[in-house]
Amino acid sequence: MPHLSVLLNEMLTIFDKRHLRCFVDATLGAGGHSEAFLKEHPEIECLIGIDQDPIAREIARNRLAPWGKKVHIIAGNFAELDAHLKHLKIDKVDGIIFDLGVSSMQFDQAEKGFSFMREGPLDMRMDPTSSLTAAEVINTWNEADLGRIFRDYGEEKYWRKAAGAIVRARQNKLFTTTLELADTLRQALPYSKKGINPATLVFQALRICVNRELERLENVLPIAIDYLVPGGRLAVISFHSLEDRIVKTAMRFAAIDKLHTSGLSGLFLDKEPLVNALTKRPIIPTEEEIAENPRSRSAKLRAVEKR
Ligand SMILES: C[S@@+](CC[C@H](N)C(=O)[O-])C[C@H]1O[C@@H](n2cnc3c(N)ncnc32)[C@H](O)[C@@H]1O
Repeated sequence: MPHLSVLLNEMLTIFDKRHLRCFVDATLGAGGHSEAFLKEHPEIECLIGIDQDPIAREIARNRLAPWGKKVHIIAGNFAELDAHLKHLKIDKVDGIIFDLGVSSMQFDQAEKGFSFMREGPLDMRMDPTSSLTAAEVINTWNEADLGRIFRDYGEEKYWRKAAGAIVRARQNKLFTTTLELADTLRQALPYSKKGINPATLVFQALRICVNRELERLENVLPIAIDYLVPGGRLAVISFHSLEDRIVKTAMRFAAIDKLHTSGLSGLFLDKEPLVNALTKRPIIPTEEEIAENPRSRSAKLRAVEKR
């Protein structure tokens, strides 16, 4: 299925009437958001699109071909935003967007191993050149470490049961496919038949772990804010509470003008506020969008403007 861009109009509205000369799409994907920005903002002279997935880049490259040399597609991780921009000799930008997580194209490629509904290898790397795979985690990490990632990255209430069942099962035979893992989880976790698929949260945790999603997001947000011109805007779409918490915390921290000093209650240090919040509450999809694109149901958009 082609990837439908989530919260597209809402994202454009954040940048409405802004003069965008240089713009970064840190999660290019199929190029849907980028294409909309190029159409809506003909003043864009330079659009930098980053993605770690070669298939996504190829799709975006074709889609954005009409804009020719305005578009710079970078193969890499947004965690290296600073290095990517330095390499292009760019020191400030007018806008940066993130649309986190995997695209529906990635989800639909059984060979990536993201889906517990499709038979595929236990891979889950968005960047096929990175070394850690889901199979390595599942087959070699000890029970405590598995439990920790299921708890911390999946918020899986049965994290102990899931880790124990995996360690027991792999004593007979190592896991090689998504459905083998999904089967083990279905048998081990006491979810009701009507609720979510018992593999959902463990698969989410593995994906986050393999792609180091949370630490990369946490590290890149202050760098992104740093690169904005005064009046420049940063907008981020997240898809689950762990991501949203990181986005909310980073934006709040950048916006505050006082730091509470730990241990000395009531004492504050002055701090330079770097941004103004544009979204007091996150923007969420309309019912129509959710009906048309169920993947959007958990999306949250937050944005700030550089002071
Ligand atoms: C939800 S999709 C983006 C879809 C895009 N906005 C569109 O409208 O077509 C997320 C994309 O970000 C990429 N991605 C996720 N984390 C990344 C990271 N840390 N560095 C680079 N690309 C990343 C994924 O490979 C995926 O293609």
